[in-house]
Amino acid sequence: MTSQWWKDAVVYQVYPRSFADGNGDGIGDLAGILERLDYLQNLGINVLWLSPVYASPMKDNGYDISDYRAIAAEFGSMEEMQKLIKEADKRGISILMDLVVNHTSDQHAWFQESCSSRTSAKRNWYIWEDADETGAPPNNLRSIFGGSCWEWDENTGQYYFHSFAKEQPDLNWENDEVREAVYDMIRWWLDQGIAGFRVDAITFIKKPEVHKDQPADASDGTSVVKPNQPGINAFLKEMKEKGFQSEEVMTVAEAPGVAPEELPAFAGENGFFSMLIEFDHVDLDITPSGRWFESVGWTTADFRRAITRSQQKVNEGGWSALYLENHDQPRSLSRYIPEADQGTKTAKLLATVYFFLRGTPFIYQGQEIGMQNVTYASLSDYDDLSTIDQYHAARQEGLSESEAFAVVSRRSRDNARTPMQWSAEKNGGFSEGEPWLKSNTNTAVVNVEKAEKDTDSILHYYRSLVTIRRSEAWKDWLRDGIYEEVEQVHPDVFVYRRVYKEKALTVAANFSRHPVTVELPAPLEEKVAGNETGLHAEGTLLHLTPYEAVAATGPEGGK
Ligand code: GLC
Ligand code: CA
Repeated sequence: MTSQWWKDAVVYQVYPRSFADGNGDGIGDLAGILERLDYLQNLGINVLWLSPVYASPMKDNGYDISDYRAIAAEFGSMEEMQKLIKEADKRGISILMDLVVNHTSDQHAWFQESCSSRTSAKRNWYIWEDADETGAPPNNLRSIFGGSCWEWDENTGQYYFHSFAKEQPDLNWENDEVREAVYDMIRWWLDQGIAGFRVDAITFIKKPEVHKDQPADASDGTSVVKPNQPGINAFLKEMKEKGFQSEEVMTVAEAPGVAPEELPAFAGENGFFSMLIEFDHVDLDITPSGRWFESVGWTTADFRRAITRSQQKVNEGGWSALYLENHDQPRSLSRYIPEADQGTKTAKLLATVYFFLRGTPFIYQGQEIGMQNVTYASLSDYDDLSTIDQYHAARQEGLSESEAFAVVSRRSRDNARTPMQWSAEKNGGFSEGEPWLKSNTNTAVVNVEKAEKDTDSILHYYRSLVTIRRSEAWKDWLRDGIYEEVEQVHPDVFVYRRVYKEKALTVAANFSRHPVTVELPAPLEEKVAGNETGLHAEGTLLHLTPYEAVAATGPEGGK
């Protein structure tokens, strides 16, 4: 392995609760993942990121960890985890664990001890503050999942701080003992043979000033907690040195609040992490308050600009996790494509657009078969705590029941968490039992079994893109080729090039339902991938059918 092997990787993300249920209790598990390793190998990916499988009360489906060195009983056992690491390795697949160290569960032994008394040895492992003269919390910060960041503890008469749910108290990173305990745990997992981590919500570890209100961004006077506070760099540097230690350890940081300009400092050659999960291209439709009902319109040009801003910094030494979906986002087909046009062709268009960018491509489970948002009948069908909170926030700000419901249906994280659709059988072949979250109703049409049989399917297309990315012929080009925006040639068309040693690869995608002809700086040569047959170019003119996307070599040399 070269030290930056992860630059040539293709990653697949599994949300364990929803991927495959091995024992029929309706909850996905490690046994289910083991059964599907051959499927992943066939897809061609070489890194598997598991959303958290640690012991957890599952308030946030595992992002609330009660024991970092144990596996949740509903997912399996440590023996099965070790087996998974070995079996994956046999198939050329490395495992990334999710590293959730901004906070623990309130059921973690550390927090239990911390809240046992004001003089407990672990009191300062979390963030405790007195109430102000009126009994109110020290400031007006609002947590990501709603309500104050400060939760009152009756027993010891102080508030503790949480950036997310109140059952997810934030660790006190200012405390040396906390940091050492975290690094120790990181090294322990690396010793188990994993390749690295996806690092959860890491830009929240440095806290904003305590005795200071922030300008309100909601009618109740609160202000959402902001990540990436000054002073965070020292923690990140230390975590790299003492925790991850080697560049061979793949680290994928979820980094809200990091502007593209900071990318080279955070990721890549000299960064704190191997790569960053950025947000600009998925948060196009909301305001910085993070409140889903404050939705804003966006165009193909906005999407292109968001991608380009980040890619230009990747050129300068940053590195990016290329993604359109994960367990926190709605399905990409549903988000980026108008409802009437969602299907095989548009799913392939989206795949083409992001797979050739500079960075490491990530595929989220089900994306490779074109899974779509779910249509639920009522709020009680949802499980995600943030969906429930967002619904109530929208109601509070005056939206009607149906308006608020429409907002959360569009944005809910559960859109990505419905059971994986393996076949047309009951529950999409995910489980013999009753799934913990209702399946999408389109399992008969959208499923792996069907996609395997159809050589024109989205699945086969993803497989071909993974093959290209990892092939000897393309690997270096797609890793090192410079990203160049081709100036907007048409409002609905996104064109970019990857320029490598006098050679260029051009990607052009028509995000409209109309045929479009665009003029390129020079003629294209050979088609590499696309969602249409052939390449319809005449000299420098390129004809694109509705929603056509194509990647082709050329033009040679400069522009
Ligand atoms: C990250 C995770 C998300 C989780 C949150 C709190 O954003 O991706 O699923 O709810 O952190 O841990
Ligand atoms: Ca199960």
